[in-house]
Amino acid sequence: MSGEQAIVRGAEIIRRGGVVAFPTETVYGLGANAFDASAVDKIYEAKGRPSDNPLIVHIADPEQLNGLVEDVPESARLIAKAFMPGPITVILPKNDKVPDRVSAGLKTVGVRMPSHPVARRFIRACGVPVAAPSANKSKHVSPTSAQHVFADLVGAIPLIIDGGECDVGIESTILDLSVPAPTVLRPGAITAQMVAHVLGGVETFDGKVVVAKAPGMKYTHYAPACGAVVAEDTQAAAQEYARREAVGDRCVIVARESDCAKLEGMRTLSLGVTDAEVCRHVYGALRYAETRYDGIIFVDLGKDGVCGSVMNRVNKSAGGNVVRRKI
Ligand code: TXA
Ligand code: MG
Repeated sequence: MSGEQAIVRGAEIIRRGGVVAFPTETVYGLGANAFDASAVDKIYEAKGRPSDNPLIVHIADPEQLNGLVEDVPESARLIAKAFMPGPITVILPKNDKVPDRVSAGLKTVGVRMPSHPVARRFIRACGVPVAAPSANKSKHVSPTSAQHVFADLVGAIPLIIDGGECDVGIESTILDLSVPAPTVLRPGAITAQMVAHVLGGVETFDGKVVVAKAPGMKYTHYAPACGAVVAEDTQAAAQEYARREAVGDRCVIVARESDCAKLEGMRTLSLGVTDAEVCRHVYGALRYAETRYDGIIFVDLGKDGVCGSVMNRVNKSAGGNVVRRKI
């Protein structure tokens, strides 16, 4: 369903304690009333999500933050001014109104104000903050269209609000402001450099630290069904492709447009030209490829800017498997 009618119906379902999938600028979310623990249970059930993985609470207006946290520190005010609404989540000490089911027992809560106009109208219509993880089956890639949500959760949820394709394409940046040194727990379209510019400095989380601070980090996420490897460059990708062709494996190379152009005669899937396009298309490409090919060879996009955030997800999809060029 789409349009105003879908928003009105979705808000009704939320107020009655149900779950609804809705679009945001990053990925689709599966929402429930953040103050209703039994509604939140239904999210975990529909996704098959482990219950020790906390949820992000979505708000439509800055004032709603006051109803969720003990106090709003200066750092949060600065971040809100610079990036909200937008693809960033801040972690702050929670108040008693936020149930443990949302925070998975942590004393903190992640709060995000999406910029997607449908998300904002929907959350406003609900009249309560909306707890929501990405609207995929647990361990699958995040959905960037209503069709992706449908493919994963058909029959398990009563309504998907269709807001078209997500503009950003990867999940929000998670910034922990509950600790003395602000820390980026998950990189996103808002990069650590952009955060550092506002706060004067920020620590980054490299995903390999033993104590997983964002509990979700310990699960293998975003995995396409057919298996994936990262190739360090187009030459490594071409060599891996040839090796697999020889044994009858039908794989596809996923890369940015300029790299696809170098791989003539091979099956390729282009992510686009600009960094924003690459980011927007990455999950759709993984979902497209997993149902059609035996494997994905993903050409490394490098570490600069948002490409570093995209590769953070892709390296997880590939379980850290990298193929290098052989001389
Ligand atoms: O862009 C997004 O953030 C999307 C859209 C729907 O808003 N949501 C999303 O949610 O990606 P999810 O549940 O797939 O990922 C949330 C991540 C998890 O890794 C979780 O561990 C972390 O946020 N998280 C949530 N609350 C936290 C907290 N209080 N402390 C540390 N990490 C937290
Ligand atoms: Mg997720």
